[in-house]
Amino acid sequence: MQKLVIKGGTALEGEIPLWGAKNSALPLLAATILCKGETALENCPRLTDVFSACRILTHTGCRCSMNEHTVVVCADAPDTSEIPETLMQEMRSSIVFLGALLGRMGSCQVYYPGGCELGPRPIDLHLDALSRMGAQIERYDGRLECKAPNGLCGCNIHLKFPSVGATENIMLAAVLAKGETVISNAAREPEICDLARFLRKCGALIKGDGESTIRIKGVKELKGCNYRIMPDRIAGITYLSAGAITGGTLKLLGVKNSCMDNVLPVLEQSGCRIDRAGDAIYLRAPKRLKAVSRLRTMPHPGFPTDVQAVIMAVMTVAEGVTVFEENIFECRYRHVDALVQMGAEICVSGRTAVVSGVKKLCGAHVAATDLRSGAALVLAGLAADGITEVRQVYHIDRGYEAIEKILKDVGADIRRISQ
Ligand code: UD1
Repeated sequence: MQKLVIKGGTALEGEIPLWGAKNSALPLLAATILCKGETALENCPRLTDVFSACRILTHTGCRCSMNEHTVVVCADAPDTSEIPETLMQEMRSSIVFLGALLGRMGSCQVYYPGGCELGPRPIDLHLDALSRMGAQIERYDGRLECKAPNGLCGCNIHLKFPSVGATENIMLAAVLAKGETVISNAAREPEICDLARFLRKCGALIKGDGESTIRIKGVKELKGCNYRIMPDRIAGITYLSAGAITGGTLKLLGVKNSCMDNVLPVLEQSGCRIDRAGDAIYLRAPKRLKAVSRLRTMPHPGFPTDVQAVIMAVMTVAEGVTVFEENIFECRYRHVDALVQMGAEICVSGRTAVVSGVKKLCGAHVAATDLRSGAALVLAGLAADGITEVRQVYHIDRGYEAIEKILKDVGADIRRISQ
């Protein structure tokens, strides 16, 4: 077991380069199964979830190797469409392999994906959509057997909620299906557009990604290509927030500006100066941050649930009251107890959390309970008086590559210790 030990109080200063987005890398890795020949995904973050996806690819008979930040996959001859339970349980996103395997092999046997710390995460929208496309799905005690003996067929699918994973699974199943698939109320997250861009580069016919209606015309085959994964907007906001909470000055490199437009105004309202130049974002924090009135998590282009925890950490030391409303997941306030232990004043009632900013946090021994809550505690530790220890770092390693090195390079006093 490892923990991060942080001595707070240093204003961060310097440059932070961004790697590719985890939430894009995982569906892209699943998509490589659909492609004949070799695919190279560049700018791929070295994260435990990415390694899990590579293990699934290898298990299905694809050749998969990772060198530095490039993953090369050859899916010429996948020889099984079965993913064992242990691999499925390693991460929630293993479910995107369902659409890809069905699309390429016409069948798959998988298990319900790993349990989740954020509350129930059903996959009914995924399964309903694939059934409508002609998949026969049998459920046996946690196992799913899916067959499409006559191949998948395009159809109209209306999602009752714009689920990111369901939209991705349908796209993966539809690119090689017969006819046209139209997804209405589709997710509009930038990672959906990244998946569509990749699939188009491989030969797929997709229109409307980034909008509510996505149209996909099935093609006979896809060919692998070289593709650069989009930068990680959630990691980007996390690092800018680290600059904000410490009163620092940071420059984030390798960013596509528009992908963060739904969160940067929040940092600006809190008093940070943000300047953009080309692919860089520059943040200069004020001496004392200001609260922002109300933040409601919503599907893109709304305020993302994935930054709720880190922005909450920032608001714990801002002057005034910030009200959060979490509308995407049921249990996404698990960082609150630890923040309160560090001196924050937060009151939770149902989906609402009211944060009254305090002047200073104090170091404490806390544990990450999920990926983004772990990042929030690291940020709180950077701003707190004294020493903070964050246990259960494996949650953080799922989504932040070498977080301690990146923060140390901009002046943080942070160490990883193996217990
Ligand atoms: C993705 C992201 C995750 C992010 C989330 C919301 C990846 C790898 N993960 O997760 O970081 O927090 O989007 O932006 O990209 N739902 C159903 N039935 C379904 C599917 C979803 O009810 O079949 C519900 C979920 O319980 C949840 C909501 O829809 O309440 C959002 O889920 P979804 O958009 O599917 O999130 P993920 O794709 O799992």
